[in-house]
Amino acid sequence: DYNPLTPALIKQLCAIVGERNVIHDDHEKLEVYAKDELPGEHYAHLPEAVVKPTTTEEVSAVMKLANENHIPVTPRGAGTGLAGGAIPMYGGILLSLERMNRIVEVDVKNLVVVTEPGVVTNEINEAANAYGLFYAGYPMSLLSCFIGGNVATNAGGGKAVKYGVTNRYVLGLEVVLPNGEIVQFGGKRFKDVVGYNLVQLMVGSEGTLGVITKIILKLIPLPKVTIDLLALFSTLDEAIAAIPGVMTHSGTLPTAIEFMSPYAVQVSAKYLNEELPLDKAGGLLLIEVDGSSEEELIPVYEAIGEGCEKGGAFEVYVAPNATTQERMWALRRNIAEALMTVSPVQTSQDVVVPISRIPDLMHALDEVAGQYDVLFPAYGHAGDGNVHIRIIKKPEMSMERWNEIETELLTALFMAVTDLGGTISGEHGIGMKKKKYIRMALDENILALSRGIKKVFDPNHIMNPGKVFPE
Ligand code: LAC
Ligand code: ZN
Repeated sequence: DYNPLTPALIKQLCAIVGERNVIHDDHEKLEVYAKDELPGEHYAHLPEAVVKPTTTEEVSAVMKLANENHIPVTPRGAGTGLAGGAIPMYGGILLSLERMNRIVEVDVKNLVVVTEPGVVTNEINEAANAYGLFYAGYPMSLLSCFIGGNVATNAGGGKAVKYGVTNRYVLGLEVVLPNGEIVQFGGKRFKDVVGYNLVQLMVGSEGTLGVITKIILKLIPLPKVTIDLLALFSTLDEAIAAIPGVMTHSGTLPTAIEFMSPYAVQVSAKYLNEELPLDKAGGLLLIEVDGSSEEELIPVYEAIGEGCEKGGAFEVYVAPNATTQERMWALRRNIAEALMTVSPVQTSQDVVVPISRIPDLMHALDEVAGQYDVLFPAYGHAGDGNVHIRIIKKPEMSMERWNEIETELLTALFMAVTDLGGTISGEHGIGMKKKKYIRMALDENILALSRGIKKVFDPNHIMNPGKVFPE
């Protein structure tokens, strides 16, 4: 029951942010903002207007106007989200933060960076690296995503084993509430136990509680050296079972422990024109360690190699130089794109289970895949139990049949995941994509508390409606 954005309201929006920063009445330009990277064109929805503020005060004025007139507002970063969180499902205002793209300061003395939300995550690292510092919370899409979206989704990535995910680094936030009030949560402090931890409530709230306009992030010393190993095992079960031993044998928490199923890595290798002797490998681990010098790391990676062999690895390659390191990671990074060449009709999942249950999940999936005759390649962040599964329609299956079974398939997958003590999203969020399954992951008590929180922040329900929770 939202109100339409009338010409009079559009005029007021233009007065707030400037006419050139409002898009309306231009189908082609609006279409760019109708979707994020969630696969499936049918998810697209046009906003009535795209509004591009440059200051917190402008965001505040836009929110006030929207709140008073009951217009839905959907915040958007770079649009790289995979859960449809930035899709303006009810039209209204698409609030693009792309022009709030300044790094405010790298505060070396306090080991923090203060940034606006529309900065590409990797740019924060470039700015920090110049001082020997590093922002460690970044996701795999760091070259294109915005830090604001990372905070809004609590994005995680390939270095989470050692460094955790975005939330570990968020010390403070400036947020515009749905009623236009500007609030400062936290600050440049590494410790703070005063009141509820509202900083961390905002992190991962997927744009449903307010608009993030400034972010204070913790920086850490930039490791000087990284070394990568690729370990081949006969089975995936062996590879996963080897992980705790690899850590204890080496006495090290690796930066990353990624796994790839043979099918996923073969498709990626073919896509990249790589010749790899993988025919005997039933499971692969890509392990990265970092530290302050090569001398320090030699015994570490040797011990990791030994740990893998003890766990059954029949081959362990150590990348001798940066080029080979990049080739190893390219195999992992390009899996999703490579799989799109198999069939563009697929869903991409980011479920998470306790590490040791990954093989059980794979066996459960084999059964489901057989039953429905679809492909189910898996890969992802083995070191934190976060498994990417692409469910792919075989070319010979009709679209009709696919549409019929998609919900059943996902339900079967999520059931297997929750039975194993896991949950339905580890890093991409719920957005619009998974909200209909949220009851499989959260019970009624938690849903009631969440609804209460939402109501306190956004009593008129204008902030990113249609996301995370079923109506
Ligand atoms: C990855 C992203 C898609 O790990 O989460 O590749
Ligand atoms: Zn991932």
